[in-house]
Amino acid sequence: MRRERFQISSNYKILLVDDEPGIVDSLSVVLKRSGYHYTGLTNPLEAIELVRKEHFDLLILDFLMSPIHGDEVVRQIREFNREIYILLLTGHKDLAPPLETIRALDIQGYCEKSDRFDQLLLLVESGIKSIAQMRLIKKFQEGLNKILQAVPKIYQLQPIGSILEEILTEILPLMNSKNAFILVDDVTQFSPGNNSIFKGIGIYHTDIHDFMEMLNPSLMEHIGHARLNKSSVKLQGGVVVPLINEYHQDIGIIYVESDDLEDGLKLLEIYSNQAASSINNAFLHSLVNIKNDELNKTYDQLRERYMDTIEALRMVVDAKDTYTRGHSDRVAYYASKIGESFGMSKEELELLKVSGLFHDVGKIGTSDDILFKKEKLTDRELIEIRKHPLKGAHILSAISMFKEVAPIVKCHHERVDGSGYPEGLKGDQIPFMSRIIAVADAFDAMMSDRRYRSKLPFEEAQNQLVLGSGTQFDQDVVVQFNHVLDKFPDMIKELTETYE
Ligand SMILES: [Fe+2]
Repeated sequence: MRRERFQISSNYKILLVDDEPGIVDSLSVVLKRSGYHYTGLTNPLEAIELVRKEHFDLLILDFLMSPIHGDEVVRQIREFNREIYILLLTGHKDLAPPLETIRALDIQGYCEKSDRFDQLLLLVESGIKSIAQMRLIKKFQEGLNKILQAVPKIYQLQPIGSILEEILTEILPLMNSKNAFILVDDVTQFSPGNNSIFKGIGIYHTDIHDFMEMLNPSLMEHIGHARLNKSSVKLQGGVVVPLINEYHQDIGIIYVESDDLEDGLKLLEIYSNQAASSINNAFLHSLVNIKNDELNKTYDQLRERYMDTIEALRMVVDAKDTYTRGHSDRVAYYASKIGESFGMSKEELELLKVSGLFHDVGKIGTSDDILFKKEKLTDRELIEIRKHPLKGAHILSAISMFKEVAPIVKCHHERVDGSGYPEGLKGDQIPFMSRIIAVADAFDAMMSDRRYRSKLPFEEAQNQLVLGSGTQFDQDVVVQFNHVLDKFPDMIKELTETYE
């Protein structure tokens, strides 16, 4: 007990000023016996200079001194030091300074001089306790300030290793420590076993395998205890603090070596709570990324299947009608160019292109006799062949990935004046993409030799589109397609020259 008091006392420095050497000597004996760091002076002016140069926690000074009194000494010291704790020694109580002066100068206590120093020692002890509390509050304030500054930083860091390192770096000054480590469950690893993330600093700056060898069974037990009970475990020279996230789940621990547990532990616990939240946050980020990667993979697989299906369907269409092979590719191409000219998105262009590719897919359901007939078709045959948009929509509807393509294909022979088929839709009733396919389809048909007629010259085909604008074709689409034809004449020419 005495040893403990001695240790506490030795942390504080006391300055005594009394112009009577006898008092300085006597008090020197008493204070040193109590374990205080003590300096005695008889000259008050010298004392002012010493306080200016050196740190003292407590000042005991005589009131009546020469060349200046104690209250004047305090007045001068207070001009540059508001922190030092001051006790005033007075002679007879009638000679004490008035209470107002004591308050104004921020003097914490006073007592009468006597041969016995019991009363003074009690005042010194109570003064030291106050100073200790003030130190603790100050340390807490500084610690909290550090935490407030550190937390936003650890929230922004990625990856998890950097966060853990920063957490440890901030902890060391908070706990006056040099060695610490952090162990966190890696929630992003779903396999059992090797699922802890470790980071150490000081003597623990090593990898997890070497660290496991450093861990003694007793410390492991304390770690388990801290996690299970979700409370800190104090050890000889260190502390294990559980990391509890905002959902009250323990996600790991921080171990800090420190001899100064009393003052810093509360701060460490506050900091650990913040650290746990930031770690949790980082894991959530990682999990979102992992899910994103999985989604991307799934999307890539779907896309691959989509392309495979398109290719398979194209082969079926091509096998059916070798005569018009290449027609669907060109319709898809022209339609895409018109779509681009309208400023369509990547997804819309993809839909438009696939619709162009399969606009005549329904013809695989039309008999070869009708499809390849060289003579003029009868009314019955005409009705039969005009079923191909609807048949195409049915075929495409059966494949879920083409559900958006089906209605476009169904309407590619509708006319804006309502005289088309299969439903006789008018203007805006016809899907916009169908109106684009209709123009691309007609242009390519006019530019190709067919069994029943020869191909038209380029300018004539372009002219026919203008003539049909507003009746067979959408006016805006024709205008836009003419822009495309004007913009890429060489390319269109080259493309049309490949026609069979
Ligand atoms: Fe068609």
